[in-house]
Amino acid sequence: MYDLIIKNGTVVSPSSSTICDVAIKDDKIVGLGFYEAAEGIRTIDATGKYVMPGVIEAHMHCMAPFQGCLGANTFYQQSVSGAFGGVTMFMDFANVFPGKSVLEAVKERRAEMEESAIDFSVHGKFVKSPPELVEEIPQLAEYGVPTFKMFMTYKKEGVMIDEETMLKVFEKAKEVGGLPMLHCEDNTMAEDAIEKVKKIGDLSWVNFAKTKPQKCEAAAFERACRLAEYVDCPVMVVHTTHKEALDVARRAHESGFPIYVETGPHYLTLFDDNYEKEEGYLYLCSPPLRTPQDAEDLWQGLQDGTISVTGSDDCTFDTNEKAAFLEKDENGKYIQDFTKVVNGMSGLEVRLPILLSEGAGKGRLTINQVCALTSTNVAKIYGCYPQKGIIAPGSDADLVIVDMAQEVTLSKDILHNNISYCLHEGFKVKGYPIMTIARGKVIVENGEFRGEKGAGQFIKRKIDSKYLERFGLD
Ligand code: URP
Ligand code: ZN
Ligand code: ZN
Ligand code: ZN
Repeated sequence: MYDLIIKNGTVVSPSSSTICDVAIKDDKIVGLGFYEAAEGIRTIDATGKYVMPGVIEAHMHCMAPFQGCLGANTFYQQSVSGAFGGVTMFMDFANVFPGKSVLEAVKERRAEMEESAIDFSVHGKFVKSPPELVEEIPQLAEYGVPTFKMFMTYKKEGVMIDEETMLKVFEKAKEVGGLPMLHCEDNTMAEDAIEKVKKIGDLSWVNFAKTKPQKCEAAAFERACRLAEYVDCPVMVVHTTHKEALDVARRAHESGFPIYVETGPHYLTLFDDNYEKEEGYLYLCSPPLRTPQDAEDLWQGLQDGTISVTGSDDCTFDTNEKAAFLEKDENGKYIQDFTKVVNGMSGLEVRLPILLSEGAGKGRLTINQVCALTSTNVAKIYGCYPQKGIIAPGSDADLVIVDMAQEVTLSKDILHNNISYCLHEGFKVKGYPIMTIARGKVIVENGEFRGEKGAGQFIKRKIDSKYLERFGLD
């Protein structure tokens, strides 16, 4: 029968909002309808609340050795922080270095993630790799990892993939139904611009953003799309920040070619004026923060389906790591040198609240679009649908209950991400996750974490083209 009923909530999917109960048995959803409460069955009253599929995070970097820094959270802490933001599954990236087996790196990452309280998966990654490594792609897909990130910049650091190898990755990915994920920044422009500001000796936070302007991102985006179209392999472009890049995707979509596009919460809510602040180093991420107009253009892309998913790109470093290599002047102020600051921002726990409040709450998106952008489309594109991403019989009982009337002021004191600052300090949201259920267990309730270290399971993924027929998706 069932052992948990969520009663009377508005159950949200990308195409409907229906008042009904959700019946759960063990770790699965077993029915939608109206169910009698009975002894031994826990009943949760969700009257007036949304019941949504748990948020899926397909873009984060926890315990990633970047520029000598590891990040503030363990995978367990990361899963706790995510759970408070309604996240019930997350994916991280294999740690690879030039020449390292990607499959081995994926297995090592999986072992590190086993302590997670929520389900998890791993993406492969190809850096400056010998072309033979590309032959591992069928084994990766077989292992349940059909997605691989590549960087189009950071050549000097040995991270950028050369375009010949990238093309080979596209070809192999196409053979196995895989999905390449791309960090699009044009290396030639970025390195040239960095050399120029080095020459004039101004490595200020403001100049960081200037070395990676919109054009730099759009140039790489355009090139990646053209190569993908040439091979006829769909690709995902992560952390997209502005209209010029979106227009490249729109053109591809018009010709029927599926370029999947992600953007993140910080590009929707935080802007490049933060680089004028003394603590601007905390906002260094790639691509950099843009302008309020760019954010409006991103909202437009979310509305019209050009952007298929959101991802937090969470990369949580405390101030000690962000400032680890900075020096101070005689007044105790940091001497601005963006080349010495690890890139990345926190965002896992605030993605859903921001989309609820700034999106659904302000009429920019429907609640159904928020559902698609935080969960359903992520599951479809990354290959774990319908196990994840939908409230339907047979799917995992991963749910988040949302109260659109709940007002919260974001602050370091209310988040659970192990750092001493909050980039959204003082930012008011209306609409917040109040309960998170993972595999049928309530893991966040009344502001308390009730999950279990190690309860998360590795999810084998396989992308099924029948869910990807349209890229407006659902
Ligand atoms: O600045 C960022 N985005 N750091 C994380 C790594 C990446 O490029 O996604
Ligand atoms: Zn990236
Ligand atoms: Zn990232
Ligand atoms: Zn486990």
